[in-house]
Amino acid sequence: MAQVLVLPGDGIGPEIVAQAVKVLLALKEKHGLDIDLSEGLVGGASIDAHNTPLTEATLAQAQAADAVLLGAVGGPKWDGMAMSDRPEKGLLALRKGLNLFANLRPAILYPQLTHASTLKPEVVSGLDLLIVRELTGGIYFGQPRGVRTLENGERQGYNTLVYSESEIERIAHVAFKAAQKRSKRVCSIDKSNVLETTALWKEVVTRIAAQYPDVELSHMLVDNAAMQLVKAPKQFDVMLADNMFGDILSDEASMLTGSIGMLASASLNEHNKGMYEPSHGSAPDIAGKDLANPIATVLSAAMMLRYSLADTVNADRIEAAVGKVLDAGLRTGDIWTEGCTCVSTSQMGDAIAAAL
Ligand code: IPM
Ligand code: MG
Repeated sequence: MAQVLVLPGDGIGPEIVAQAVKVLLALKEKHGLDIDLSEGLVGGASIDAHNTPLTEATLAQAQAADAVLLGAVGGPKWDGMAMSDRPEKGLLALRKGLNLFANLRPAILYPQLTHASTLKPEVVSGLDLLIVRELTGGIYFGQPRGVRTLENGERQGYNTLVYSESEIERIAHVAFKAAQKRSKRVCSIDKSNVLETTALWKEVVTRIAAQYPDVELSHMLVDNAAMQLVKAPKQFDVMLADNMFGDILSDEASMLTGSIGMLASASLNEHNKGMYEPSHGSAPDIAGKDLANPIATVLSAAMMLRYSLADTVNADRIEAAVGKVLDAGLRTGDIWTEGCTCVSTSQMGDAIAAAL
C-alpha cells in the first residue's frame, strides 16, 4: 500500500488539502485506490507546535513515504521572524532534504475557463504549457548569503546565484524528456546577457540538447519571456527555468489559466519520488473562510498518482471529475464568471469527489 504523508501547512492549506484528501478517500472507497494517508505539521503550524518549521521526525517521515501532499506555508503571524526560522524554510528544507530538484508546473487552460482569464480568449484558449523549474539550487540555496554591516556602518544584503554543470544537466534532461512526450519543444530561460551563471546554464542546456535530436531547443532572456508569456503564451511547450526565474514565471503563467488556484505542481527527485503542492501560497487574507479554490491541490493529488504511485487510471479519474464539475458550471470565487454557480471550497471538494 502506498504511504502518503499529508502536510496541510498554514493559511488556506488545511482547507484545500482537506478537499484533496476527500477526493483520494472517495477513490479509495469507489475504485479501490490502495493508499494510506498520515498527517504532519510544516511551516508556521510546526513553528507553533515545535519551534521549528520542519522537525527531524517529519522530514524522516517524508523521506520514508512514497509521496508527500502539501498545502501551503507562511502567513503574517510569522512574518517578523528571522529568515532562517520562517515557515518557508520548512518547505525549502523538504525540497532539499528529499532532493526534489525537478519542479513541474503545468499551466493548462480548461476550455470551460476561457473567459475567467484576464487575457483575451483568443490569446489563451487551448493553452497547454509546462514549466520545468530547477528547485534545489540557484539563488534560493547559494552561499554565502545574509546581511552584513559594512565599515561605514551601512548594512548590505547579499545572495549568491550558483549552478554547477551537473545541476543544470539533470534538470535539462527532465525538460527534454518531458518535451518528448509533448510537442517536442523546449525554451530555456536565462539572463545570459548579464549573469555568468545563466550563461553557463545556456551553454550546458545546449550541450544536453544534442542528446535529444527530436526536440527543438530555443533560448529566451527572462525579461522577454515574461513579456511573451502574456503576449503570445501558446508559442511555448516546455519552459525550462532556474529556481528563481521559474518561481516568477510560474505565477505569471498561472494567470493565463484563469487563476493561480488552478496550477498544480509536482516536485520530483531522480527516482520520481515526489512532493505535490499547489503553486500558490497560503492566502492568509481568505484563510478559514471556505473561499479558496481547492482545484490546484486536487490536481496536484492527481499528479501524485500519476508520477509517484504509477496509477494513471485514478489520476485520469480525478482530472475528468474536475472537468465534469467545471462543465456543470461550479466555480469558486476566483474563477467565477457570469452565469456560473459560485461554490465554497468544501462544496467544490464534495462535487469533485461525487463526480469520480
Ligand atoms: C512556490 C512558492 C515558494 C517558492 C515559497 C513559498 C518559498 O512561492 O512554491 O512557488 O518561492 O518556491
Ligand atoms: Mg512561487
